[in-house]
Amino acid sequence: MRQWGKTYQRRFHIYEDIRKSLDLGTDNGIQLEINLNRDQECSLQMALENYIITTLNSFYDKKFKKGNNNFLIDYRDDILGLPNRTPNGAFYPKKENIKEYNILQSIVNSTIVETGLIDQIESYDICTVRIVDGKRTDLDKRNSATVKLHSDAWSGQYGDAMVTTALLGDETTSLEFWKPIGMRDEFYDTLPNYEDGTNLYDYPEYLGKLKFGCMTIFDHQCLHRTLKEDGGLRVSIDFSIKLACTELLDKNTGGRNVKHRPKEEVLKIGDKTSVEASETLQECYERFKNDKYDGVATSHINDIVS
Ligand SMILES: [Fe+2]
Repeated sequence: MRQWGKTYQRRFHIYEDIRKSLDLGTDNGIQLEINLNRDQECSLQMALENYIITTLNSFYDKKFKKGNNNFLIDYRDDILGLPNRTPNGAFYPKKENIKEYNILQSIVNSTIVETGLIDQIESYDICTVRIVDGKRTDLDKRNSATVKLHSDAWSGQYGDAMVTTALLGDETTSLEFWKPIGMRDEFYDTLPNYEDGTNLYDYPEYLGKLKFGCMTIFDHQCLHRTLKEDGGLRVSIDFSIKLACTELLDKNTGGRNVKHRPKEEVLKIGDKTSVEASETLQECYERFKNDKYDGVATSHINDIVS
């Protein structure tokens, strides 16, 4: 295994094999877009809509229409009222929507295989669906609010990079990518407060915005923030990856343990195995109804695969 370090040049070079063998759109060095075809994009969009509508039907015990292109606008308040969504927009599987989540993960798996990304990674995590609201709230002032410029290394993410695909909703509710100039040695450590991260580099240089319909890989060196311009909901999926060509980044994890499963195991999900949910939507509602979401951010789904 090659030795890869933490500097910009080193991080730029770990994506050489991806540059050579995948169909890429924009390449910003530590932020690269993998093109998806229309079939891949549609399959992911339909699975996401199914996952969200099933959750609405179960929680509110009424029928929300499928195939409504404006469902993120028409059902906005109901969606934001669901208990399985965190202030950063992560929309977790529960007993009622776990079947639809597993179907979505199997489509994510096929997409990773078809694009060739699978050959470049050693391990990855099951996907997090995110429903991000374009309107700001007081919760965006929290220590770990994603509207603050941050690296996912600071929230304890494992591996080398995140892969995000925006698929539905308002394109103005976007994500911005920045390159840190003049990084300190501790840049990759886990931090309790994203604002402390501004001491870990001199200044950020703008790279670009999230493009819909492609898989954007962004290295843990890449700074980013959610853009909220008073728009509508945006739905995306993301997962972290560890490349095959790298050694694990040596970092202070702040006591968190967020290892990946090997890729062979994740690939079976939705086919030979499935993710199980540990609680119902109602149980989740009871657990969080008085929560002010002021604790330290965690970045992982603790569900069981069997
Ligand atoms: Fe992030």
